[in-house]
Amino acid sequence: MQVTYLGSSEIQMGKKESVADTAKVLGSMFDGIEYRGFSQQIVEDLAENANVPVWNGLTDEWHPTQMIADFMTLKEHFSYLEGLNLTYIGDGRNNVANSLLVTAAKLGVNITIIAPKSLQPDQEVIDLAKIQSTGGTIHITDDITASKGSDAIYTDVWLSMGEDADFKERIDLLWDYQVNQNLLDLTENPEVIVLHCLPAFHNTKTEISKTIYETYGYESLEITDEVFQAQSDIIFQEAENRLHSIKAILYWSLK
Ligand code: NVA
Repeated sequence: MQVTYLGSSEIQMGKKESVADTAKVLGSMFDGIEYRGFSQQIVEDLAENANVPVWNGLTDEWHPTQMIADFMTLKEHFSYLEGLNLTYIGDGRNNVANSLLVTAAKLGVNITIIAPKSLQPDQEVIDLAKIQSTGGTIHITDDITASKGSDAIYTDVWLSMGEDADFKERIDLLWDYQVNQNLLDLTENPEVIVLHCLPAFHNTKTEISKTIYETYGYESLEITDEVFQAQSDIIFQEAENRLHSIKAILYWSLK
């Protein structure tokens, strides 16, 4: 397969050319289109008009391709999915949390979302998960002790791509929801694993994390370096699985 990358400076989609027109042009030239951007409406308009498979590579609302890699990793580690206890902690209404909630429900995985009330999933997403559920439990709470009994803990960045929010306000809101040793102890499961879709704010070795450290004094945000390093085998297995799972997705939809 050959891949052509079209960044926002290469095309005029939505600016000088409607999404529908761009979809028709690209659909006539390519066998499939993956959209990784912000607006869910754009990926839906592409899918409606392109006449070729359109994959959602991430929007503000959903991150479905990440799910295939995540649940593949869980299956590789535990060898089963149904009945697993998966807990997501942090920004509970971002693209990853929404997708985990619905995918876990579909696969019979018991899902707990732990987040402050203002960052919990929209009722619409919870309802969708309930409709799609094949029997797993769905639990939304702001209480970190609900992590007790987790087989896997999942976290993600506290500020997602394209979000226009005050970083400090978000940190203050989510500080108690950091994945650290205390949180792992609350699971009462010494075998608990931690997943993260990456990138992770676990040290001060990036430009942004360095600025955060210099401005506010935090060395890590959603996950401590101690936990990240201890769990890095499974976290990087999850990252590698993005490759294998996206190949499977492309093959399945093009074959
Ligand atoms: N919630 C994150 C996911 C990154 C893969 C973001 O949208 O930035």
